Amino acid sequence: MEKRSQWGTRAGFILAAIGSAVGLGNIWRFPATAYENGGGAFMIPYLIALLTAGIPILIMEFTMGHKYRGSSPLTYSRMNKKSEWIGWWGVLIAFVISTYYSVIIAWAISYSIFSLNLSWGADTPGFLTGDYLQVTAPGEFGGFVPGVLIPLIIVWLIVLGVLYKGVKKGIEMANRIFIPTLVVVFLIIVIRAITLPGAFEGLNAFFTPDLSAIMDGQVWVAAYGQIFFSMSIAFAIMITYSSYLPKKSDLTNNAFIVGFGNSSFELLCGIGVFSVLGFMAAQEGVPVDKVVEGGVGLAFMVFPQIINKFPALNELFGFLFFASLVLAGLSSLISIIETYVAGLIDKFKISRAKAVLFGGGFAALVSLIFATRGGLNFLDAADYFINQFGVAFIGLVEVVFVAWVLRKLGEFKDHANEISDIRLGGWWTFSLTVITPIVLGYTMFDLFKTNILKQFDTDTGNYENYPDAFILYGGWFVAAGALLIGIIMALIKWNDSQNTNESTKEAK
Ligand code: ALA
Repeated sequence: MEKRSQWGTRAGFILAAIGSAVGLGNIWRFPATAYENGGGAFMIPYLIALLTAGIPILIMEFTMGHKYRGSSPLTYSRMNKKSEWIGWWGVLIAFVISTYYSVIIAWAISYSIFSLNLSWGADTPGFLTGDYLQVTAPGEFGGFVPGVLIPLIIVWLIVLGVLYKGVKKGIEMANRIFIPTLVVVFLIIVIRAITLPGAFEGLNAFFTPDLSAIMDGQVWVAAYGQIFFSMSIAFAIMITYSSYLPKKSDLTNNAFIVGFGNSSFELLCGIGVFSVLGFMAAQEGVPVDKVVEGGVGLAFMVFPQIINKFPALNELFGFLFFASLVLAGLSSLISIIETYVAGLIDKFKISRAKAVLFGGGFAALVSLIFATRGGLNFLDAADYFINQFGVAFIGLVEVVFVAWVLRKLGEFKDHANEISDIRLGGWWTFSLTVITPIVLGYTMFDLFKTNILKQFDTDTGNYENYPDAFILYGGWFVAAGALLIGIIMALIKWNDSQNTNESTKEAK
């Protein structure tokens, strides 16, 4: 059997894992999600999700990847043949995410260029949806938008080029350049942000808890969803990355470094973003909550407005902000695509070049949907459904399967403890066996109930009030499709017997 690729150094692996975790989820999603879900109060479910699910699952996934040394499907299959479908399900979720994640990076590339002469003008929402994306009604395609298509092709050429070069020469190398640059650029932005007039009010809004939000099940799903998306866990990435670790690797310590590194960066993003929102509110003489918008709106509508109002060096700060989105996004996108590149290599025994060409090429083709005039609506629906009913749901299934169905935690604990400095104890097992299944199980139940009811109840309205049919195929079908195709992939025979001889393939 061909020797499995390996990271060059421990630092290389940690940088790549942090590069995967730190992404659009931190800069584009976290501040708005936190604000929409109770502001400072969100930090309570967020921290609980981090400590009882995020870090424990990260340790678990590092251990699985290291022990079974395979892509996510191969790892699951070696753990237990009947669980291979979970491995593919994660890969399919990653596939869907990659198709629209690449498009957001493409927008960020365009906006880095727009910022050089602030060409978005004064009406930034109008510019985004009108001049730039030329958005049509939900469900319509309406032809390609060249301003998205061209940077999108560039994004795919970069990431597939990196992936083609392999684990050490491609992924590790790219992260060695991207991540230090990102940290420096982002620190410059945050330091400028917190010294702006009004920043304090913005931070106040961010950190003042709305405690009633803690009783809301949706807030907890949002917290778990954010943790899973942001830490790149539950959708095949960290299993794949840790399968390239050498035998002697400190798993637990690495997981803590990556987990806390990611959350620190996330908090830094929150501080930076809310400082500038406070500045914007002060300029307009309105309360901070009047200038906050979620997701797409925050980065591509509100930010350009803020940049317009900057006291000095507007173009430079605009460029730095969007360039940091591009850098953070690219390093994550690489890891997202590597999940299916690795899955295809393992399952069909094809070369990396072929896996990159077929897997990446197919994803690039699908991503064209989001480069059309209707792309923004498709993206919004796919993102919402694949995260809530994909990432958060698979996280629950993964934990229940490993902890309860296959009862593997004891074995994994021994494996991690044998090679790690920090010893895993009761906290780890209890979190994965009891806390996460109960909290996430209940909140997922609540989420399903609410959203399914919405589908049938004309009064409550769908997510973002999209039409029923659009939500059905733009949202539900996408999330269910990932699971269904995952199951089908698991039914296909492996191209050789590599997954049969479990014990000999394990790293001791
Ligand atoms: N973890 C990546 C992000 O936060 C996917 O964007």
